[in-house]
Amino acid sequence: MSDEYAKLHERSLDDPDGFWGDVAKALDWTCPWTSVLSYDEDGTPQWFAGGETNTCWNALDRHVENGRAKQLALIYDSPVTGTIRRLTYGELTEQVARFAGVLAGFGIARGDRALIYMPLVPESIIAMLACARIGAIHSVVFGGFASRELASRIRDAQPKIIIAASCGIEPTRIVPYKPVIDSALESDGGSVKACIILQRSELEADLIEGLDYDWNACMDVASPVSCVPVKATDPLYILYTSGTTGRPKGIVRPSGGHLVAMEYSMRRFYNVQPGEVFWAASDIGWVVGHSYIAYGPLIVGATAVLYEGKPVGTPDAGAFWRVVQDHKVTTMFTAPTAIRAIKREDPDGLVMKSYNLSSLRALFVAGERCDPPTSKWIESFLRIPIVDHWWQTETGWPISGNALGIHQFPTKHGAVSKPIPGWDVHVLDAKGKRIKDDQVGAIVCKLPLPPGVATTLWSAPQRYNDEYLAQFKGYYSTGDAGYFDEDGYLHVMTRTDDVINVAGHRLSTGAIEEVIASHEDVAECAVVGLNDEIKGQVPLGLIVLKVDAEGALVSIIEDIVRYVRESMGAVVAFKVAVIVPRLPKTRSGKILRGTIAKIANGEKYLLPATIEDPDVLDEIKQGLMESKIGVLGTRG
Ligand code: COA
Ligand code: AMP
Repeated sequence: MSDEYAKLHERSLDDPDGFWGDVAKALDWTCPWTSVLSYDEDGTPQWFAGGETNTCWNALDRHVENGRAKQLALIYDSPVTGTIRRLTYGELTEQVARFAGVLAGFGIARGDRALIYMPLVPESIIAMLACARIGAIHSVVFGGFASRELASRIRDAQPKIIIAASCGIEPTRIVPYKPVIDSALESDGGSVKACIILQRSELEADLIEGLDYDWNACMDVASPVSCVPVKATDPLYILYTSGTTGRPKGIVRPSGGHLVAMEYSMRRFYNVQPGEVFWAASDIGWVVGHSYIAYGPLIVGATAVLYEGKPVGTPDAGAFWRVVQDHKVTTMFTAPTAIRAIKREDPDGLVMKSYNLSSLRALFVAGERCDPPTSKWIESFLRIPIVDHWWQTETGWPISGNALGIHQFPTKHGAVSKPIPGWDVHVLDAKGKRIKDDQVGAIVCKLPLPPGVATTLWSAPQRYNDEYLAQFKGYYSTGDAGYFDEDGYLHVMTRTDDVINVAGHRLSTGAIEEVIASHEDVAECAVVGLNDEIKGQVPLGLIVLKVDAEGALVSIIEDIVRYVRESMGAVVAFKVAVIVPRLPKTRSGKILRGTIAKIANGEKYLLPATIEDPDVLDEIKQGLMESKIGVLGTRG
């Protein structure tokens, strides 16, 4: 094991105050912290309590002051609109300060919530940083979510203002945003006083007088405002993610801890230096987009790439490599699903080879497990480290992976290398006992967690304790299962709950079930993850109809598929459903989703001891077989 890694990892756990206090010195604070790690009266950990800072200052203004005004901060590359726009630190700071002035003009102040519903345009980053500048808490909602998801987030965050674009642009269609917003506001818009809309020329929205305001018109008359110091423990943003129920969880990111985590992870994990070009091919609607498009690269004075396009189809499987070549990307981050999509279209790397990728030093992948064939395939062409790393919306930054800024361990395909300094990771059995190497169990992190990790859920602190801290005393439950091998490499294999991962997007089967169940003909339903060659998983619905359901079965299924798409969004990719007579349940009435998933995915399954009626499993098999779905598992 590398001495440097071992030393740092050990110190981060033995002396967290000293370790993180040293990292924090690289940032600007308007008021120093009184303690690095302390606990509030409820026992919730607080990093840098007493300290005051501003994230926008640390991401922009201080770099301008330190001579980076002319360096590129953001490169916007949009094959779907044929646009490339470059903003220097000086220009981005000016735009952000002005938009912060717009927000202030609407009465938005420290602690107020602003909801951002935008595609990957520079204005999305400007809006996020402008909120941070005035201490407002942003909540970005992914543009692929439809009105039900948007409404639930508005209901929970109670934003005063919505910042949106008139449309998103998908390769085959324009997605109008305004109708989605209007529909969400109709049911849950009580708190919203104004919407600022960026009109895109591809589809302009009709603005409602007294509610909607044009972005450009607002910017024309606004004056720039400066950064407002906030407490280190104040929230920077709320980001909703899927839990096991239909109700999304509002992850609250503390300002100071987040800054420190970004500073550390950009340098010591991703190994990025000021002035280099870092590209996370993700969306600002996900945590990756928050940490490593909007904030991380800027905090360390690097250049961030904002890409509005797909890995394939915009225009072809060379899309990613064109961006790397044109902008001299040094470090890239994407999801394994994107690599699989490229591999399918360019299996021999012929398109890839036509680009000059000499600037690229490392490719980081996360969002789902990177299956070894995919990582080996991409490694064989790029011949640079392919770093699979594991983390979650809750943590905000990586837990485990090859920290290239510390020491490059040999790659083991299928593993996420070793826990990063700050993380004390263990594998436990159901009783909470530590498990021996090579045996699968629940992956947990020993408390206290390092800076930047959410320590509460917006308006639901008890739910945080119930979901993350209650199961294993003294540990944070990640919801993932896996094992450590004999070399200390962590292998993250599967979720232990009803969360599925569709093309790197984390979705709750419970939320999809809620929508299906609201169809008038549905008596009950279960949604499980069906393995998919490109997306990793796609949702599969098993539906039991009411006895008096009317209409042809095919049209009921079509209705349900459309219903999920319209209310949750196309990105859920719910396209496969089967009508079955009954669902398998335990004697206490719990649906056996795990067994259904195993049957559909062709895996061996054991007859659950608690099953109420084993014959139901044969009915499920029959239903799937008739619909030609899945591979069908056998009883082990
Ligand atoms: N706004 C509106 N609709 C969106 C959207 C957005 N921001 N993003 C996706 N959609 C729609 C797509 O148009 C598609 O609609 P369709 O059913 O009409 O075709 C649907 O949602 C599914 O989209 P997507 O998940 O992109 O699947 P795909 O089959 O079009 O493409 C991949 C497959 C692998 C290329 C794509 O999933 C991908 O690029 N994945 C990478 C994901 C990623 O980076 N995740 C980040 C986690 S770190
Ligand atoms: P999200 O919060 O959307 O980022 O999703 C986090 C979840 O995605 C994790 O809890 C894992 O289930 C899964 N995940 C993310 N990265 C990896 C990885 N590298 N390997 C395995 N699973 C991953």
